[in-house]
Amino acid sequence: MSEADRVLSNFTPEVREERTYSEKKLRVGIIGTGWIAEAHVESYLRQPDVQIVAMADLIPGKAEKFAAHYGVKNCKFYPDHKAMLENEQLDAVSVCTYNTQHAAPTIDALNRGVHVLLEKPFTATLDEAVDIMRAEKKSGKVLTIGFQPRMDANMKQIKKIVDSGALGQIYYIQTGGGRRRGIPNSTFIEKKTAGIGALGDIGCYSLDMVLNAIGYPKPLTASGYTSNFFGTSTDYQKPEDAARFNVDDFAAAFIRLEGGIILDFRIAWAMHLDTPGDTVILGTKGALRIPSTECWNGSVGGPMKLYHDLAGEQVETVIPIIPEDESGLFDKKIRSFLDAIIFDRPAPVPSSQILYNQAIINAIGDSAELGREVEIKIPQI
Ligand SMILES: NC(=O)c1ccc[n+]([C@@H]2O[C@H](COP(=O)([O-])OP(=O)(O)OC[C@H]3O[C@@H](n4cnc5c(N)ncnc54)[C@H](O)[C@@H]3O)[C@@H](O)[C@H]2O)c1
Repeated sequence: MSEADRVLSNFTPEVREERTYSEKKLRVGIIGTGWIAEAHVESYLRQPDVQIVAMADLIPGKAEKFAAHYGVKNCKFYPDHKAMLENEQLDAVSVCTYNTQHAAPTIDALNRGVHVLLEKPFTATLDEAVDIMRAEKKSGKVLTIGFQPRMDANMKQIKKIVDSGALGQIYYIQTGGGRRRGIPNSTFIEKKTAGIGALGDIGCYSLDMVLNAIGYPKPLTASGYTSNFFGTSTDYQKPEDAARFNVDDFAAAFIRLEGGIILDFRIAWAMHLDTPGDTVILGTKGALRIPSTECWNGSVGGPMKLYHDLAGEQVETVIPIIPEDESGLFDKKIRSFLDAIIFDRPAPVPSSQILYNQAIINAIGDSAELGREVEIKIPQI
């Protein structure tokens, strides 16, 4: 048994499944053929029970060029998601549009009885997330949100450690991440397409990592701060990008969760620091330190460390990194969506959880604007 296997066997072992595919090929459509659609299409093309039959993009000719690049044959092209949904009999779609165009295609697809894999973050606003969930409830179809880090074995290990009771009662969490310089471009930096900046783009991952581990308790209040000193500065951005930059590039917040848990959060696309700090989960029996990441690779930033007492001594257990297996995180994300459809399973990343993620993100933005703590109110679905 390797060192990694020995330490990890202290927690719940992973159950490996035999792979079964659908006998009938699922007819899949792609909405939005930008950057992230590449990863979706590459993964769908590896699935024997999927046929990509349609693609839509607002930019004329973009979907056609995209399909040709990936050798997708017998595919129809549409100028927007509406035309595609009206003209095609689809089983499922990937919604790969920018954030402010997450809600409309998802709601329209669900209303037509089509299963949806929606890219992260859930939406740009909490109201949109609620509207999507109401359409999901009415349709009875699968809606999963594209958090591929959930599929990573190291990320799963965080939840297993919490569930094992090794940390005792959790009362404080510090999380976040980001990078010294790493402001994205294109549709990510304007409110009209992105809605939110670093807070939604990479903040949603850091929040999901810890909230999923502790079972997504309800968020109660948030006191938030956002800024965009780097994004709007020609010292760090091209003048044309600085001029149109109007989202956040840094956010910090103090969030109260049900169960008396405090969540201390910061995220950055750019700052004069390599990391805003590791993630730490403090409990009454132990604490877990998760090395910081830049929030785009889908895994933890290095071996995690469990701090606990053993026979009266203060000890530390290093949790070795579990190497990613050959089928990467995106294949797992796509496959878990397809399996939920085929086997009538619950969504792998359910909207009911990510609603809280979205509520926190929007509350941080609201609080920053108002300059005071805000109560988080979650509407009934
Ligand atoms: N899971 C991940 O690792 C990951 C990584 C990057 C981006 N994303 C997410 O994916 C989404 C898209 O990111 P991107 O980098 O591909 O953006 P992008 O701007 O490169 O592509 C989005 C495309 O959607 C098209 N579009 C918008 N509305 C449409 C509509 N109604 N019908 C048809 N096409 C429409 C646009 O014309 C554009 O070509 C974002 O929400 C982002 O947060 C996820």
